[in-house]
Formats: sequence, structure tokens, C-alpha cells
Amino acid sequence: MTTSAEPPAATMSYDDMVRPDAVHRAVYTDPAVFVDEMTRVFARVWVFIAHESEIPEPHDYVTRDLAGRPVIITRTRTGEVRVLLNRCRHRGATVCREPAGKARRFTCPYHGWAYDNSGELTGVPWPDAYGEDFKKADYPLLGARVETRHGFIFATLNPDAPGLSEYLGAAEEKLDMWVSRFPESKVAVRHGRQRMLCRANWKLVLDNSIDGYHPAFSHRALLHVAARHGDGRDMGYFAEAPDDSPLYVQYLGNGHGFLDQRPAYSGAGSYFERQRPAPGREHVAERVRGEYPDEQATEYLDLSVGAQMNFTIFPNLLFVGNQIQVLEPKAVDETVLSWYATSSDGLPDPVTALRMRHQEDFPNFGEPDDLANFAECQRGLGIPEIEWVLMNRGFGAMDRVKVDGDIVTAPVTHEISPRGYFEFWRKLMSQEV
Ligand code: FES
Ligand code: FE
Repeated sequence: MTTSAEPPAATMSYDDMVRPDAVHRAVYTDPAVFVDEMTRVFARVWVFIAHESEIPEPHDYVTRDLAGRPVIITRTRTGEVRVLLNRCRHRGATVCREPAGKARRFTCPYHGWAYDNSGELTGVPWPDAYGEDFKKADYPLLGARVETRHGFIFATLNPDAPGLSEYLGAAEEKLDMWVSRFPESKVAVRHGRQRMLCRANWKLVLDNSIDGYHPAFSHRALLHVAARHGDGRDMGYFAEAPDDSPLYVQYLGNGHGFLDQRPAYSGAGSYFERQRPAPGREHVAERVRGEYPDEQATEYLDLSVGAQMNFTIFPNLLFVGNQIQVLEPKAVDETVLSWYATSSDGLPDPVTALRMRHQEDFPNFGEPDDLANFAECQRGLGIPEIEWVLMNRGFGAMDRVKVDGDIVTAPVTHEISPRGYFEFWRKLMSQEV
């Protein structure tokens, strides 16, 4: 331990910052690390950027950040999805300043250069002054590579990145499984996102996403509320020797992780029965059971509650129940978390309505617990005298860990996911991959 208040990070390599069972606090606190992450992590891997259902028609667009760079996600006249750097080729102004809308072209508000929504420069005011060598084709809005899975749009600024399937690896199957709960596997991501400002480093959120250790303590109030409505309610199982339960966590390779709560349930009907209260729940259940045959009604009601799978696609897409949560790192100690509700056109309206009520549950009654801990971790990690952050739970109990190719499976409180993704992070930051 150093006794100096000087951060040692300036003299440490990224290899030094990541140990097999701990990381140096600088990975969360050093602004220089954050700057490197934007280029070495976020600009090099595939990053989730939007869902196709947010831009369903030609000329629809949304604006987001990709690796800290402002981008426009557009659907062109022919229906193609493009991800364009929101940076005018003239003197650098952003050409689109709205969060979402419909536009055939983007005209830069500064001097009026106009681009169509595939990025081509279509006109500059009074072009005579540019002479004959000036070719509009030389100055399009620059684009990122784009691939989609089930409407999830991923983009990368790295021309040499492997294809998306190779990057997703074992996580692709988890995505297929999550999406298969939607009729015809069609997901609609709703426009109304719930944005939360988190005063902490983005990786503190990621560490927590596959963490079966914290619910019994961090979410104790929520567990108490649920327990008042009967035993065995959603998440109650985290409070009772969870490592002896059939719940498990997995590290999937390339930074991705998975936490499976489904083994705590006993099949059809149990997902709905054991969920926490929600406004209108009993009324909708009665209506659905009255209108549909038993088996169909049970299936619909189970679809109105969460998937009981949590998984992460590194570095910024988290699946929690039926929602997705997207991380936008803003500074070393500031992250915007956006929760998006999902729905499906194939479900009856009352089921969709109840689904929305259940999706309001965790972001409002659970996430504030997590946000408070992330911010307090950031504060604690600001103490220079204690340098190492432990991720060693289960590290000495490898007999309980199964390794199958890239996939590592362990009891639900083991910290294999952060250990795994930090090793991938170390390689990216050291530019070994
Ligand atoms: Fe865009 Fe000048 S900066 S037209
Ligand atoms: Fe939590």
C-alpha cells in the first residue's frame, strides 16, 4: 500500500492494474484510463446503439453516443440502417441536434452544408467559391460498421473488428433465448426511456449486473415488501444460502455474462404467481383467464413478468427482466443509465399493459438501491490509501466451477463475471486483441 496521496496509475501499465482476483482502483477513478477506454474499448468492439423498432420507417432517426462520439442512427429511403458520425465535414459542428425525429436530410445549422440520411453530402451553399477540385463525394458524414440481431443495432468504429457473431459468441444464444419469449421473436423497444444519472464509473454498473451476492443486502427493502405477499416471491431466494440453490452465473467470453434465476421457478405459471404486486394485476389475470384457454392464459401471464434471466453484452447492453438497460459513459465518474421497456405486437392489450406495470417495478424500487451503492463505491474508491478492489469470491473454490470451452459456470454469488470481463478489458486496453 502506498502512503502517498499521489495516484500510482500514471506509472502503472494496464497489465499491472488487473490481477486474477482484484483490480486497481485506478480503473474506476483515473480520468486518463477513461479517455483510453473510449478508444481502446468502446471504439474497438461492437457496441449496442439502438433498436430497429425505434426507427421503424424510412427517414426516421435517433441520436446517441458511440464511444463518446455523437452519432445519428438513420433509416434511409431504401430502409437500410446507417450509423453516422454527427460531425459536419466543414468545420466540425454537429449536423443533427434533436434526440429523435424524421429527416430526409441533415442541414448543418452553421453554414448550411446538406447531407442526405445515408450520409452523402448533397449540397454546399454558393459552391462556385470552392473551385473545380472540390468533389462533394469526398466529404460524406463518416459511417460506422453496422450489424443487427433481432433488431438490436450494434456498431463499431473498428474496420478490423471480427463480425458481430464472432464477437457475441455464446451471448448470441442467450439473446436468441431471451427474444424467443416474444411472440414470433419480435421485440419492440419503447421510445420512452427512463434516464438515470449515475455518479459512478460505468464499470461499477457492469460489475453489478451479474452479481448474485448483493440482492439480499442491497435490495433488502424490496425483498421485505415481496415477502409480505407470501413466501418464495421474486428474488427472495437470494436471501437463503443462494450458493446451495440451483441458480448460477456464467462468464461467456469477450466480456459477456449471464445470471440465471429460472432454476428457482417450477415451470409454467410459477413466474407470474411469484412476482411482486403490480397495479391492476389481479384484474388483468381474471380477464385473461376468462378469455383464453388455461394453457394460453398461463403463458400470457408468464410473459407479463420478467424473463428471470440477466445478461450483459459487453460493454454497454444489459438485459434485466423484460427491460434493457443501456450504459452511456460520460466521464470517469459519471454514467447515464437508460432503462427501456419492451413490448410485442403479438400480445393481447391487457397483457401488454400489465407487462408495462411490471417493468416499472425494478427501475423504481430496486435500481435506486444500486445507484446509491455505485455512487458510494465511487466515493470510497477515491481514497488513495487502499488500492485494490477485490473480486475474489469463489476464486478459491474452483471445485464448484465448470469450464466448457469459453463458458465458465459457477454458483450464483461467485465473482467470475467481473474477473472474466476485466481480463478481456486488460487485453483490449493493452491492445493485445
Ligand atoms: Fe457545418 Fe460549416 S460547420 S457547414
Ligand atoms: Fe441490484
